[in-house]
Amino acid sequence: MGGKGNGEVKIGVLCSRVRVEEKMLFAALQERGVDYNRIDPREVVFDLGGNGLGKYDAVLIRCLSHSQAYYITRWLETVRMPAVSPHRVVATCGDKLLTSAALQKAGVPIPRTKVAFTPEAALEAIEEIGYPVVLKPLFGSWGRLLARVSDRYAAEAILEHKKTLGGYQHSIFYIQEYVEKPGRDIRSFVAGDETIAAIYRHSSHWITNTARGGETSHCPITPEIDRISCAAAEAVGGGVVAIDIFEVPDGHLLVSEVNHTPEFRNSIAPTGVDIPGRIIDYVLEVAAMKPGR
Ligand SMILES: Nc1ncnc2c1ncn2[C@@H]1O[C@H](COP(=O)(O)OP(=O)(O)O)[C@@H](O)[C@H]1O
Ligand SMILES: [Mg+2]
Repeated sequence: MGGKGNGEVKIGVLCSRVRVEEKMLFAALQERGVDYNRIDPREVVFDLGGNGLGKYDAVLIRCLSHSQAYYITRWLETVRMPAVSPHRVVATCGDKLLTSAALQKAGVPIPRTKVAFTPEAALEAIEEIGYPVVLKPLFGSWGRLLARVSDRYAAEAILEHKKTLGGYQHSIFYIQEYVEKPGRDIRSFVAGDETIAAIYRHSSHWITNTARGGETSHCPITPEIDRISCAAAEAVGGGVVAIDIFEVPDGHLLVSEVNHTPEFRNSIAPTGVDIPGRIIDYVLEVAAMKPGR
């Protein structure tokens, strides 16, 4: 561990929009007496022959754009500046296919998932899984462009629309079994090797994201939730992540996805956990371990 106190540490916070979450993170930095700087990705220019973003002990990545987070974390790696999350985690969590592959490789249970590259192969995969299935774009959040497909006619139409109207990523067909959730799913937060908080997201809609109207309530962190959350976090490279978990009717848990820049505004009151404070404490730990300090 380095010997610097909070007052001597400098943290960069990369974000284009200052949302409620970022305001809370800035407040947590101020409370701890940490010198920090907001970095706006719209103003970032890399000099490929030289300098990075400035001198920071660690950079907290909070930008919404996957491509910006992807390339900026890659750049930070080349200039040996620690990032939360680091490039590997951003690259994996930003892509549902890579996330599922990482989870599966680590032995973390996931819903049955298939990937195909043509509508014909996708239809075959869908019929093999059996209706209903869920189709998802590889990149995205807030439950956008998800489709629950109930029969062959709907499948044919959606596959044709995706192929004809969608961009490149909509021609990679990510197909998942539909999991009969009990009107809710679980969102847990991991920082380092600890599950720090968990909520239920309740909804009468099958998509439970809070951005789509899901209501949150406290979810006790059972040993099983703790185990699967930490295993999922480790599978994608660790750090600060949020995990979407489904409860299946037989009582088992499945990990649906892992998020590297989670929103947490609706998770503080139900859990009573100071999530922004815990995130900043983790960033300060990473900063203290920076090589050469
Ligand atoms: N296979 C599935 N079975 C049942 N519900 C699902 C499935 N996949 C997603 N959902 C619902 O849709 C929500 C959003 O899916 P998710 O894969 O997390 O995408 P996003 O990145 O947009 O949040 C989940 O939180 C869950 O409520
Ligand atoms: Mg999600």
